Amino acid sequence: MSYSVGSITTFVMPHMQNVRGDLFGGELMALVDQAAAVAAIRHAGGPAVTASIERVDFRERIPVGALVTCAATVDYVGNSSMDITVEVYAEHVSSGEKRHTHTAHVVFVALDDAGKPKRVPRLLPETEEERERYHRAEVHRQQRRS
Ligand SMILES: CC(C)(COP(=O)(O)OP(=O)(O)OC[C@H]1O[C@@H](n2cnc3c(N)ncnc32)[C@H](O)[C@@H]1OP(=O)(O)O)[C@@H](O)C(=O)NCCC(=O)NCCS
Repeated sequence: MSYSVGSITTFVMPHMQNVRGDLFGGELMALVDQAAAVAAIRHAGGPAVTASIERVDFRERIPVGALVTCAATVDYVGNSSMDITVEVYAEHVSSGEKRHTHTAHVVFVALDDAGKPKRVPRLLPETEEERERYHRAEVHRQQRRS
């Protein structure tokens, strides 16, 4: 599991802002999707596409000038699908204050050369933290399907 990760860090620039001068929600979703894509493609060892992005609540504004990091982990896999958690952090660069602002759950599906779903490698949780993430994601997947 420690191999199947992805991270994107970007400085929030003025062209990314909404009408109030904060990071536009669509820009954040793109960063979340990109970080998840890196984790998915790394785990699958080939192409993978977004199948779903679950509800994301925008509880905290992220101002222009903040440093945003989206950290993705593959937490559970089916046959071709990968359940990915993306944690979003915003850092106030001059003070160094860092806040966890969002959590997103994303499902990616690995594809073969013909564009059909392709089986992905099994996930191997090695640490207590990874076993917890794996278990949480397993429960989350069952709830999503019920
Ligand atoms: C995602 C996609 C590859 C699924 O293909 P499909 O032929 O419907 O595949 P299947 O029904 O056989 O499902 C394949 C896997 O995807 C999963 N899946 C399909 N749709 C899903 C969804 N909306 N949410 C979560 N998982 C999904 C299935 O559960 C299955 O998982 P498993 O192999 O681990 O058991 C296909 O719908 C697609 O290409 N969508 C467009 C993706 C895209 O363009 N994304 C970019 C953003 S728009």
